[in-house]
Amino acid sequence: MSNPIKNPLAAEQLVADPVPSAGEPISMHPDADLSKTVGKIEVKNAKMSMRSVDVFYGDKQAIFDVNLDIARNEVIAMIGPSGCGKSTFLRCLNRMNDTIENCKVTGSVLLEGEDIYATKQDVVPLRAQVGMVFQKPNPFPKSIYDNVAYGPRIHGLAHSNVDLDEIVETSLQRAGLWSEVKDRLDQPGTGLSGGQQQRLCIARTIAVSPEVILMDEPCSALDPIATAKIEELIDELRSRFTIAIVTHSMQQAARVSNRTAYFHLGYLVEVGKTDDIFTNPNHKLTEDYITGRFG
Ligand SMILES: Nc1ncnc2c1ncn2[C@@H]1O[C@H](COP(=O)(O)OP(=O)(O)O)[C@@H](O)[C@H]1O
Ligand SMILES: [Mg+2]
Repeated sequence: MSNPIKNPLAAEQLVADPVPSAGEPISMHPDADLSKTVGKIEVKNAKMSMRSVDVFYGDKQAIFDVNLDIARNEVIAMIGPSGCGKSTFLRCLNRMNDTIENCKVTGSVLLEGEDIYATKQDVVPLRAQVGMVFQKPNPFPKSIYDNVAYGPRIHGLAHSNVDLDEIVETSLQRAGLWSEVKDRLDQPGTGLSGGQQQRLCIARTIAVSPEVILMDEPCSALDPIATAKIEELIDELRSRFTIAIVTHSMQQAARVSNRTAYFHLGYLVEVGKTDDIFTNPNHKLTEDYITGRFG
């Protein structure tokens, strides 16, 4: 078994995260203190603000007291060994964990100062505001056009067919896919290549005018050329959206993000400017990870 993390939840982890980790067992440095995040968790004028976030699957805790702000129009990368809680934490940001039976989130998650876990919060508009792109491209079994038009239709964002055409075109353009698909909008989205499917999923997310886009290892099923296209796209999207991306590729984190958050065994160990994290990490565990001692 290639995933040697000594963790009672490890069996589920293989289901939750099919990307195999090639590293050695994660061991804790004897001096490593996980309880206090190293680096500045606050930003001015935060788009999202998480405080004292704990996540449990049944009685097993997967996230421990995470505190973090996400700035407007930044790209923040979340990195760390397989099973450290990156996906779990990301799913807290649009209440995707609500869909997992037995999963309980405590603490506060604010979007523009509003608690997204408030009882009055409707999760359908929330997941439009905070959209999500998954590891494996998952276009609907519908035409390219209908994939992108789906969200605007259910949220009533278009006032006419012309309006809807316009949203579909703009979204495909912003996702860098328009020129490749404009002559075959009526063909199934599932007929596109993997990289195109992922850009279609990004177009579908953009079509409902989100404020934040969460991406969970969006390139892990793609070849290097398709990956480079998505990375370019992330760079363009940052001017309009706030992006939180989970990646198991440190190179990718270094290429696309402004800030990087390093997770270990459910703790947010360190956060800082990406350049600093990769050149001059302050926590021993961050250093061990980025120098390839485990991962
Ligand atoms: N649906 C689930 N049910 C139970 N445990 C889970 C589930 N999803 C993840 N876990 C556990 O939570 C921990 C964090 O997993 P995850 O967030 O998927 O990590 P990462 O994305 O960093 O690989 C792991 O121990 C994993 O086994
Ligand atoms: Mg994951």
